[in-house]
Amino acid sequence: MKKKLVVLTGAGMSAESGLRTFRDSDGLWEEHDVMEVASIEGWHRNPKLVIEFYNQRRRQLATVSPNRGHVVLAELERDFDVQIVTQNVDDLHERAGSTNIVHLHGELTKIRSVDGATVIDIGYGDLTPEQTDDRGVPLRPHIVWFGEAVPLIEMADRLVREADIFAVIGTSLVVYPAAGLVNSMRPGTPAFLIDPGEVGMRLPSNFTVIREGAGSGVEKMRDRLSAYVVR
Ligand code: OAD
Repeated sequence: MKKKLVVLTGAGMSAESGLRTFRDSDGLWEEHDVMEVASIEGWHRNPKLVIEFYNQRRRQLATVSPNRGHVVLAELERDFDVQIVTQNVDDLHERAGSTNIVHLHGELTKIRSVDGATVIDIGYGDLTPEQTDDRGVPLRPHIVWFGEAVPLIEMADRLVREADIFAVIGTSLVVYPAAGLVNSMRPGTPAFLIDPGEVGMRLPSNFTVIREGAGSGVEKMRDRLSAYVVR
């Protein structure tokens, strides 16, 4: 049976596709204060601004492509039972061909009613502030904002507990509960960290650190993973 490879990804995974990370730009995200456009308070203060911000993110997403890192992770499904747990709201893992993806912080290509009952695929299109679902309930981006619960965290926690191999790619590990997933790994599980910078957490000693960007870093990890392929 193939080994279970669980991969936690963050904004750095998509950096080489041309999408900016959050903390590399001083708390500014595409010229906006993160708390203005990615918190529930920001949404209540100015829903029009938040809707327009995510419309722009969707338009931008339509213009970028998966990078080498996304593609190699998808190729790893040949030899491993790969489960991606991503904090990213883009769809680049899907477009690269990965098939098991948990979006902890939601998905840019979806919108939902503010009561959560309706979820609609919007692709790369725009949401307008007046739009409602067919019950008349207003719609919002399908994103988990600061100040909101993370509904998929328990599923992600279970996946990490079951991992035979764990990898962390392009996340500063400062945003919880996602960062806490590192502690869910069974002790002694082979683990990899791919990040050209420093992360906000002291990692357990079972981590092999690959200080590179996602593209070359995932290729190096693939070389090392050959030792775990079950033939
Ligand atoms: P951050 O911006 O906090 O961290 C990005 C990480 O990517 C940093 O550790 C960088 O060193 C690393 N990095 C930069 N370039 C890279 C490259 N080419 N290859 C690999 N890594 C690279 O992003 P996240 O940890 O994902 O939440 O942030 C977590 C959450 O905070 C996000 O999901 C978002 C944000 O506010 C919401 O929007 C709800």
